[in-house]
Amino acid sequence: MGRVTGKKALITGAAQGLGAAHAWMLAREGAKVLLTDINGIGALATAAAIDAEIGTGTAFAMRHDVTSPDDWDKALAMAAEKFGGLSVLVNNAGVGVRGNIETCTLEEWHRGFAINVDSVFLGCQKALPLLRDNQPASIINISSIAGLIASDSMPGYNASKAAVWMLTKSVALYCAKRGWDIRCNSVHPTFVDTPILDDISANANLEKSVVMGKLARQVPLGRLGVPDDIAAGVLYLASDESRFMTGAELKLDGGISAM
Ligand SMILES: NC(=O)c1ccc[n+]([C@@H]2O[C@H](COP(=O)([O-])OP(=O)(O)OC[C@H]3O[C@@H](n4cnc5c(N)ncnc54)[C@H](O)[C@@H]3O)[C@@H](O)[C@H]2O)c1
Repeated sequence: MGRVTGKKALITGAAQGLGAAHAWMLAREGAKVLLTDINGIGALATAAAIDAEIGTGTAFAMRHDVTSPDDWDKALAMAAEKFGGLSVLVNNAGVGVRGNIETCTLEEWHRGFAINVDSVFLGCQKALPLLRDNQPASIINISSIAGLIASDSMPGYNASKAAVWMLTKSVALYCAKRGWDIRCNSVHPTFVDTPILDDISANANLEKSVVMGKLARQVPLGRLGVPDDIAAGVLYLASDESRFMTGAELKLDGGISAM
């Protein structure tokens, strides 16, 4: 038996990076996984690779823009059709938000909030009926250590990830108050080597390797994260091992927030 055998999980932004790592980890530990992404072809490719290694019928995929209410309806309908329900929702899709307080445009600010925050609001709201029918259930919202610690260069990212952190707590309390076994927690990674670091490099006008070196030196454990460092936390929160944890923040930051 795997640690999440029998769980039915939807992971957004799962074509690459952290989302793909969460999907692989959950599938290896026994869950059925629906990978969604605005890059539908990428999500299909990752799902096909999971199916090839773990077995046909483990992974499904579809194009899904997390800012679109209609797309959420379609994604949840697919979970109902393929799995007969949903017990784990990983709100992972997210983007960097370019510009400092003087240079960030209002358009970029709204784009960042739509993808990083509206998505989590829509996902939590729309998935609740399915999760209610599949208790014990778990919502895992991927925030960032940048939602807890600010930087002078990323106000849009800081503010959007902080919103995810507090939204998570409200959803957790709402479910607990109604006696539903639907837990909701946020995950706060520090820098992990995925394509999102390209945005941070562009924002800072520096080569990615230079940025990665600078970032690694800020982490007490002395390195950037790798996707499986974060997926391991998602696996714990998806499993019933974390059954007494809700409304909490899991910091996977190599010690950066301890300073
Ligand atoms: N990598 C890091 O250093 C780091 C650190 C802390 C938090 N995070 C968070 O982890 C999550 C995953 O980031 P990542 O590093 O894997 O980034 P990534 O850029 O590699 O992957 C993000 C995925 O989200 C998808 N996406 C973008 N907009 C979308 C939309 N509107 N609808 C659906 N999918 C969309 C992209 O196509 C991509 O596949 C994000 O929420 C990010 O903010 C990342």
